[in-house]
Amino acid sequence: MKTVKISIIGFGAVGQGVARSLLDKRDYLNKQGIDIRVVGISDSKGSEINAAGIDLESALLRKKQKGTVATGAESALEVIRSVEHDIVVEVTPTNIDNGKPGFGNMRAAFEAGRHVVTSNKGPLALRFAELKEAAEDNGLFFRYEATVGGAVPIFNLVHEALAGNTVIGIEGILNGTTNYILTRMTEERMPYELVLREAQELGIAETDPTYDVEGIDSACKLVIIANSIFGQDATYHDVDVTGITKITPEALELANRNNYVVKLVCEAGNKLTVAPRLVPKRHPLAVGGTLNVASILTDLAGRITISGKGAGSIETASSVLSDILYIARNS
Ligand code: HSE
Repeated sequence: MKTVKISIIGFGAVGQGVARSLLDKRDYLNKQGIDIRVVGISDSKGSEINAAGIDLESALLRKKQKGTVATGAESALEVIRSVEHDIVVEVTPTNIDNGKPGFGNMRAAFEAGRHVVTSNKGPLALRFAELKEAAEDNGLFFRYEATVGGAVPIFNLVHEALAGNTVIGIEGILNGTTNYILTRMTEERMPYELVLREAQELGIAETDPTYDVEGIDSACKLVIIANSIFGQDATYHDVDVTGITKITPEALELANRNNYVVKLVCEAGNKLTVAPRLVPKRHPLAVGGTLNVASILTDLAGRITISGKGAGSIETASSVLSDILYIARNS
């Protein structure tokens, strides 16, 4: 049995989803000869540390009942630096103004010789090159499938399954909240404010939903794609962004009558743009509700389009788990 020790830094929706998936998958993973042992969990109030492996069921229960997982006052950085483990799962909330605390946590992880798996968009949309270099300099893995498209495996697809292809361009819908809003406004003729509230209740909107509706969340994801897949050194300030706030119900209705839907489309290639576009109803990008989609144009394989759930605790944990297992198998 190969034992891989991990910490979970951040115990919100994604962190708890990771813990829940590890509990549910323990037997399945053991049968494959892999034992993922969580030795540290941190949230904003403190940490739980156990070198023998944390009881994840009680950690989840404590978080639910007390609002924190902490049994001690150790900070996330103390866990990352001092507890002996292999992979730091950095799933603190996204901060796209300065990338804190995620950037510092990831850098500390690399300095301590630990691989990083993350769902945290902020640090990658601001300082991707530095993080990649820190990982490479230390001979460590840096995996971030969950940052873009939730459960949709865009980076795995391009870097592993499509290895050998040159990617010519990528277009997609990378924000579930705006896709949900546009779909409901079109199909149910519901007012913007009401559907935005619904998206917040579904738990898919950002804490500040301006980031969704102004296209900033989409721009961050597009930048991570540009840097990871096109080798650029962009930040989200390099993206030409238009959100969905100025789209009227009349415009949606007019599009609908002409067999089009309006979608917030992200495009990476020569330029990085996020803008509402008219998409024919039968086009592969015309996915509804909270779905995300990425359509990847390559030289050998042609066009490959994948679609799936772009947000959600367990869905995002699916990508985190796949990155953890990639490292477990390849390190
Ligand atoms: N607010 C984001 C969305 C969450 O709606 O897609 C996932 O990154």
